[in-house]
Amino acid sequence: MEDIREFIKSLPKAELHLHIEGSLEPELMMKLAKRNNVEIPFDSVEEIKAAYNFSNLQSFLDIYYQGAAVLIQEEDFFDLTWEYLLRAKDDGIVHTEIFFDPQTHTDRGISFETVINGISKALTKAKKELNITSHLIMCFLRHLSEDEAFKTLEMSLPYKHLIKAVGLDSSEVGHPPSKFERVFKAAIEHGFLTVAHAGEEGPTEYIWEAINLLDVKRIDHGVRCTEDEKLVSYLVEKKIPLTVCPLSNLKLCVVDHLKDHNLKEMLDMGLHVMVNSDDPAYFGGYLGENFYQCYKELSLSKEDLIKLCENSISASFL
Ligand code: HPA
Ligand code: ZN
Repeated sequence: MEDIREFIKSLPKAELHLHIEGSLEPELMMKLAKRNNVEIPFDSVEEIKAAYNFSNLQSFLDIYYQGAAVLIQEEDFFDLTWEYLLRAKDDGIVHTEIFFDPQTHTDRGISFETVINGISKALTKAKKELNITSHLIMCFLRHLSEDEAFKTLEMSLPYKHLIKAVGLDSSEVGHPPSKFERVFKAAIEHGFLTVAHAGEEGPTEYIWEAINLLDVKRIDHGVRCTEDEKLVSYLVEKKIPLTVCPLSNLKLCVVDHLKDHNLKEMLDMGLHVMVNSDDPAYFGGYLGENFYQCYKELSLSKEDLIKLCENSISASFL
């Protein structure tokens, strides 16, 4: 058992689907609430952990946006990112592409500069001290309007050199990729690559839209693609990577049991999949734990584990 954990850790790997706000551990949330004098509806780490019982994506997002309210100063964003990077090092991650949600913070009066400077300083330190390389992906919150996404894109332009791609996250159903076609076009014109969450809870049509209207280089989640044979063939043929997040899918009830997850099926179909942790502080495990649980519950072979890691590197924006 422990052997396989060591084996997993020893494989060089990239993480391509990680929301930095989702790596906010209850301990740090408590500490920052005190440091910044922010009221949170919890009195202890245990109370926070007890609230992490989700029935779907929205029930998680409600708690996740509430938790992010403790992030105020640049050093809060630095501490948050640095804690994640130390855990990444521990899991054998050599490269990470991190999502951040500027609107979660700018809508509370925190400046874009505060957010990106705190995160970026931790990334620079990680390159030097941990030998971990990284890219940043700025996500638009899809429950907000196109106009608000355009304003966020505008705000990001002075920091364009720090951001590799734009993405799309938050409440999926009812907010199709087509809603953001124009703002993604503008982002591409500014030189950003594009990715989008699609086919987590939303239908396969959203995956087609992300490909056809947003010109995405990767699909985030995408696990519902196996409902559409034509789509699977297309994804295989075009080698479009899918950033799968098994423990997230379990916690948000996309699957009832990890044994039911289609990761192995997708791998065997020749889809370009890899494993990611999504919001590890909320979903019960960082990248190594995602690998280990999948190994156990899906009877993955060592070759499967190696293939997942190879896919993570080849699907990266390096
Ligand atoms: N889906 C959509 N939005 C998100 C997620 C997710 O898995 N995690 C953080 N924001
Ligand atoms: Zn996600």
